[in-house]
Amino acid sequence: MPLKDRKVIVTGGPTREWLDPVRFISNPSSGRMGVAIAEEAANRGSETVFIHGPISRELIDRAEYRCVGIQTTVELLDAVKKELTQNTVLIMAAAPADYTPVQKSDVKIKKTGDELTIHLKKNPDILKTIAAMKQANFSLKNIFMVGFAAETNDIEKYALGKLKEKDLDMICLNDVGQKDAGFSVDTNIITIFTRQGEKMELPLQSKQDVAARILDCVETGLTRMGTTLITE
Ligand code: CTP
Repeated sequence: MPLKDRKVIVTGGPTREWLDPVRFISNPSSGRMGVAIAEEAANRGSETVFIHGPISRELIDRAEYRCVGIQTTVELLDAVKKELTQNTVLIMAAAPADYTPVQKSDVKIKKTGDELTIHLKKNPDILKTIAAMKQANFSLKNIFMVGFAAETNDIEKYALGKLKEKDLDMICLNDVGQKDAGFSVDTNIITIFTRQGEKMELPLQSKQDVAARILDCVETGLTRMGTTLITE
């Protein structure tokens, strides 16, 4: 089924979990993989929304799709829920922070003792939350979910675990230990695993080409799903 018949939500970039007005916890995700996927989805004619954490403005200056900026993982979840329709393809290329400070100080935290302990609490898992919504609501069963797994060790085991635990249709494994793959570079090396047990290894290529291959797999998955679209 061509992607143009579906709304595509792509997430990208990091989130920021603020400790005080001048400090936050984050990660080095650049948002480039998400941008490449959003561009490719828009080129294929899909209504595309790119929900992104703080990323370089240059990346989305000339975007021909809608962009929604967020900061925290909770804001990312809220934005995804707001955009979700019954025919959505959700591609979670974002790197949301898993934990957030228990307390956020309204004023700058001052330097005191030699050690500082920060208490963190778990953020919601966005894919798991949407998977639970699908389980609970039959009309959301057409939502097609794609996750990413950026791993450094036991990479296949962790990726397959996430595919299952997050009830995904596809997962894109990213071995961030390899040169030219992952964060802050223009290329990537991805292995795609599907719900049906397929495995596709994509060699080193530009993030644009990786995006096209990922969306080819999504289109194959949608055809296999073979569901009629729900008219809203
Ligand atoms: N993800 C999510 N919600 C979170 C964290 C991650 O939906 N709070 C999504 C990511 O966007 C990605 C997938 O889940 O598509 C896997 O993210 P990753 O950070 O690799 O895994 P985690 O589930 O956070 O597990 P861990 O950090 O322990 O590897």
